Amino acid sequence: MSNSRPIGIFDSGVGGTSIWKEIHQLLPHEQTIYLSDSRNAPYGIKPQEEIISLSVKNTEKLLEMGAKIIVVACNTATTNAIKILRASYDIPFIGIEPAIKPAALKSSNKAVGILATRGTLTSELFAQTSELYTQDINVIEVEGNGLVELIESGKKEAPETQRLLEKLLEPMLKARIDYLVLGCSHYPYLIPLLKKILPDDVSIIDSGEAVARQTRAVLEQYNLLNSNENAKAPRFYTNVDPKVLSDIIRAESNHYEVSFLEF
Ligand code: DGL
Repeated sequence: MSNSRPIGIFDSGVGGTSIWKEIHQLLPHEQTIYLSDSRNAPYGIKPQEEIISLSVKNTEKLLEMGAKIIVVACNTATTNAIKILRASYDIPFIGIEPAIKPAALKSSNKAVGILATRGTLTSELFAQTSELYTQDINVIEVEGNGLVELIESGKKEAPETQRLLEKLLEPMLKARIDYLVLGCSHYPYLIPLLKKILPDDVSIIDSGEAVARQTRAVLEQYNLLNSNENAKAPRFYTNVDPKVLSDIIRAESNHYEVSFLEF
């Protein structure tokens, strides 16, 4: 397999660009191809079989495009489908899961909030990790219903998004959490609003950087790092109007291509 082939990344929509950003920063010599399956967002309220078949569809498309490794930049798809993807394809997969472990270890109040989709919070993988690290911790799990839709429609800083977040965070504030885990790759785009709502002593953590480091480690392990210094520009594909996706990545990179694609 040629090392100059791209890293394939997919998400249910624009959220996984928060992971793409970290990968692009850490691995600037790698070409990246990002699939935003916004037409099927949100994944988080769909049955597991549907999340699996959408993940298979995205994987097939990225393989067709020559991906050498696939990053599932979606907590919902990772926690519901990555086991099946790994068993079905002969290519390394990197996933993203809510960062419960560091939050539980660092919390002095022994109270941690987790904001994620229903699909993630009800998954077996999440239950296993949670049980391992949160024995003596009060974990307040909240489904972020409605948040993905608002971000997908370009409303990540809108007053209605702030109102919804205030309502969702109420039980966490009551429980005096000192760590908030962002368990969905869309949610890092809510950090400006979250900082307005949360007291200063609440730390926000997400898994983006850890996913980028893991991607580098696995590329190294499989001898797949690109040795060619001149990586091609990142490519982004969406199956809806590309405006929201373009607005998000314009802020990050000057050299990129965003296109509409039926997939
Ligand atoms: N970015 C996806 C995640 O990390 C959002 C899921 C959804 O589409 O509901 O879970």
